[in-house]
Amino acid sequence: MDEPAQTATADIEAGNADQAVQAMGFNPFDPAFREDPYPTYTALLQGEPVREGILGLFVLPRYADCVAMLRDPRSSNDQRNSEMFDAVAAAQSLDADTALMESQPFLFMDPPDHTRLRGLVSKAFTPRVIDALRPRIQAIVDDLVGAALARGSMDVIEDLAYPLPVRVISEMLGVPPEDHERFKAWSRVLAKSLDFEIVVPPEVLQQRLDAGEAFRAYFAELIAERRTAPRDDLLSALIAAEEAGDTLSEAELLTTCVLLLVAGHETTVNLIGNGVLQLLRHPAELQRLRDDPSLIRSAVEEVLRYDPPVRFTARIALDDIPIPGGVVPKGKQAILLLGAANRDPAQFADPGRFDIGRQDNRHIAFGMGIHFCLGAPLARVEGQIAIGTLVARVREIALAGAPVYREQITLRGLERLPVTLSGS
Ligand code: HEM
Repeated sequence: MDEPAQTATADIEAGNADQAVQAMGFNPFDPAFREDPYPTYTALLQGEPVREGILGLFVLPRYADCVAMLRDPRSSNDQRNSEMFDAVAAAQSLDADTALMESQPFLFMDPPDHTRLRGLVSKAFTPRVIDALRPRIQAIVDDLVGAALARGSMDVIEDLAYPLPVRVISEMLGVPPEDHERFKAWSRVLAKSLDFEIVVPPEVLQQRLDAGEAFRAYFAELIAERRTAPRDDLLSALIAAEEAGDTLSEAELLTTCVLLLVAGHETTVNLIGNGVLQLLRHPAELQRLRDDPSLIRSAVEEVLRYDPPVRFTARIALDDIPIPGGVVPKGKQAILLLGAANRDPAQFADPGRFDIGRQDNRHIAFGMGIHFCLGAPLARVEGQIAIGTLVARVREIALAGAPVYREQITLRGLERLPVTLSGS
């Protein structure tokens, strides 16, 4: 390990929130930031376009810079290419090449492996395939909203936002309904695996690895079942691809299933939760949507722009990468603040305004380039049906307590969103 990495290791071992503050230029753990990061984003947007923190992290708040990094073929999503990687692995006492990397999903791979694995699942997520799921998604939402209306109250997260995506992706994969509860806990732990290693204590990292193991053991059993008795589901299709040649190893198959489950619902929970909260906070926009339900598509896009479920992503420069605001030097890791970029006045008129009819809304809540969210068509349909149905079916809806944000760094979403409601 070279000199700077050793220094970084010492820094990390001393590690606490100060590390992240220094590295990012702000404190992602601050409860005030968790609740409302937007004043900080505004300040960052007004400051230097490229901010170098410690550990060689380059923080990019501006839209044009994030887009340039996401599109550049010299941008890597494989952590092993980062100068910081050895230091982080050492600080976490992990055998970097085994424990951490063996379980990496294709989100964290570069071409050609990324291309091969994404290609195998992409057919299941085209807008046409997803559109055909609308009636099933509508039926699930009708059940959930109907039950809440009968009670007169609901926690939007627990009673709608969480169960919907988990049911949909489980049904797509072919996971039996009686098993959904079993992997809820694993999935919650794994959602944190999107959090940056330097800010995660070793015991949490261990929990992640254990949850990943439990998940893979579960899927290994299910795969064995499907091998003998294939069904009309995504899991059987992936097994068929594996059996047809050497395009997909068993380990890759397992990791892909876990990726789809984790990426496929924790984020969508936040889209629905954040969307309902923004409508409650902007009653005129809620009324506008009630008056014109056809606005639901642009309303969901505006939620994604205004309060995106994924706060940031990262890329490693394989070479010096010139971007509009400066240069990300070779080997350095850039943090792309998607939440800030979506509020960049250079890209969006009046960015602080929540406007459900906004046109020309090219937000980057789903990223951009080769890793553009595979599940975007599904997330959009789920968000449109969940939020649209709730708005159409309730006469009155009001907050019944303070919304509570989850303690996560990468994802932004609510733990609880209690409301009272009555039918129309
Ligand atoms: C509102 C909900 C969602 C949001 C905001 C979201 C956001 C994102 C973002 C920002 C990325 C790119 C990360 C990067 O470039 O580093 C991504 C990738 C991905 N998402 Fe989503 N996502 C959502 C829902 C879903 C759903 C429903 C699924 C699948 C069922 C899914 C599966 C994936 C996969 C597999 C990737 C990796 C794509 C690749 O590496 O080629 N996501 N998502």
